[in-house]
Amino acid sequence: MACFGLVILAFFIGQVSAAVSGSTSTVNREINGPTLIEETTFIVPNDYNDTTRPGTPGVLLDVNCTAYIPKLGPFSEKDMEYYISIVLLCGWRDERLPSPNNQSVMVDESYNNIWRPTIWPMVHADILKKEDLLYPVLHPGSVVYLMQRFDFRVPCLMQLYTYPHDRQMCSLILGFVGGIKVRWQASHYFQSDNSPIIISMPHVRSVFRIDQVDFNSFTLNVQSYGDTCIYQSGSCDYSGYDECLKMGIKCFKAENLNTTSCLKCLQKGGKCANETQDCSPYLDKVNPVGDFHTTLELRFVLSRSLGYQILHTYVPSFCVVAVSWISFWLDPASAPARTGLGVTTVLTMVTLSTKVRPAPELNYIRAIDIWVIGCKIFVVLALLEYAFVNYASRQTSKAPKSPVRTTDEGEAEKWKHSLDAKEESLDGTNDFQLPKLTFTGYKMAKKLDYVSRFLFPAGYIAFVITYFVVFTSVDQ
Ligand SMILES: *[C@@H]1O[C@H](CO)[C@@H](O)[C@H](O)[C@H]1NC(C)=O
Ligand SMILES: *[C@@H]1O[C@H](CO)[C@@H](O)[C@H](O)[C@H]1NC(C)=O
Ligand SMILES: *[C@@H]1O[C@H](CO)[C@@H](O)[C@H](O)[C@H]1NC(C)=O
Ligand SMILES: *[C@@H]1O[C@H](CO)[C@@H](O)[C@H](O)[C@H]1NC(C)=O
Ligand SMILES: *[C@@H]1O[C@H](CO)[C@@H](O)[C@H](O)[C@H]1NC(C)=O
Repeated sequence: MACFGLVILAFFIGQVSAAVSGSTSTVNREINGPTLIEETTFIVPNDYNDTTRPGTPGVLLDVNCTAYIPKLGPFSEKDMEYYISIVLLCGWRDERLPSPNNQSVMVDESYNNIWRPTIWPMVHADILKKEDLLYPVLHPGSVVYLMQRFDFRVPCLMQLYTYPHDRQMCSLILGFVGGIKVRWQASHYFQSDNSPIIISMPHVRSVFRIDQVDFNSFTLNVQSYGDTCIYQSGSCDYSGYDECLKMGIKCFKAENLNTTSCLKCLQKGGKCANETQDCSPYLDKVNPVGDFHTTLELRFVLSRSLGYQILHTYVPSFCVVAVSWISFWLDPASAPARTGLGVTTVLTMVTLSTKVRPAPELNYIRAIDIWVIGCKIFVVLALLEYAFVNYASRQTSKAPKSPVRTTDEGEAEKWKHSLDAKEESLDGTNDFQLPKLTFTGYKMAKKLDYVSRFLFPAGYIAFVITYFVVFTSVDQ
């Protein structure tokens, strides 16, 4: 207890003396020897000017950054934008901050702030939140690390021609103004220390799968895009994280954090390859004003998971179309059954198609629209086929009778005839006079149905195969 009191007192005295004397804690440390508090914090000297950039004037300051993405998504095709939380850990050398005792210490900014790079997201992105996540940390060799968190809403213009078989690319550009050469670099702060882009996979909320993340650092002149030169580029392969999505809530529990699967998923770095290029002629022109600056770019290469569409669109509509073929196996004479079936399948198809979200904001036809229209056409054709069969069968059976007699006479004659036929049939002699006429009508109808039994499934399967071959092979 007494010890604790002493620590508090030491802290209090340290703070007050630093404030009153205006001297730096580094000086104190050298004179008085290290105390517990002074070992863990570094108080920014009073003569430190946070408006001047560290490093040699006229030479770009190297800033290395790592991105940790704790939250990503959703990617909305309706609003053509996505949400991203990004923790940017950037390090640079500031000789004005001597690191004490060859140790890493926290920087206490209560009296004076240290210089920070000015980060400026591309103009179309909305900054929802921006905060320093932790105190800056000073490492041996006067290297300062700062962790900043940004929440952005970033536009991502999607091409939905092949929806839902589409692949998209969404990017994020961060400009660093004030004479800085910024580059991506992996950091030992994260468990996946070979990748500059680290994503918390259980926190990706999206219908898209992340296949790849590309990263670039380049010079950008806002007055002349011709001066763009990419001095660092690379890409990380993120495929095969399906099990991370299943982990979900499991990795929120402390008991599971040390399991290998959670370790792999919570800070997934991907397999990265990078290359650098010499852009010195362009880098020489980068100015501290900011109209010619260096930038970091991230690009998410996404492919849509088809699970939802397969379960809720493809399979149900396929079944409905298949059900409409039952009609061809039913008797052409059973009009209520066949019209009922036909109309029901048409209505079911209409209901199913309303579940496919229409996109009136797009002025083009998507793959899913072609699918829905195709299925509707097949179902309607099956219903029309019956109308044709029914009409054809009645035509042929009536054809020989109608020119001969008027209806009343015909009806009476038919009745008489059928009675005769029944009598004759008792004798076992020729009774095929009237039934024969009906049979030819049926024959025609049956033939049509018989052909349809093969023609419709063959046509539909050809449509399905063409659809999937065309739209899964088209790569944007
Ligand atoms: C910091 O430096 C700028 C010029 O680089 C100067 O205008 C400003 O007064 C300085 N501030 C302090 C507190 O010395
Ligand atoms: C930044 O990265 C470059 C290249 O990898 C390296 O030479 C430099 O020392 C790094 N700077 C800091 C402050 O980490
Ligand atoms: C600083 O610490 C590192 C290891 O932590 C050691 O190798 C190095 O010699 C130390 N430097 C000084 C000046 O004490
Ligand atoms: C680039 O690749 C080199 C060697 O393969 C590696 O040492 C370096 O850390 C990589 N840089 C990034 C940013 O991934
Ligand atoms: C994880 O921690 C638990 C205790 O919290 C321990 O029982 C278990 O063995 C640890 N697992 C691994 C892989 O270290």
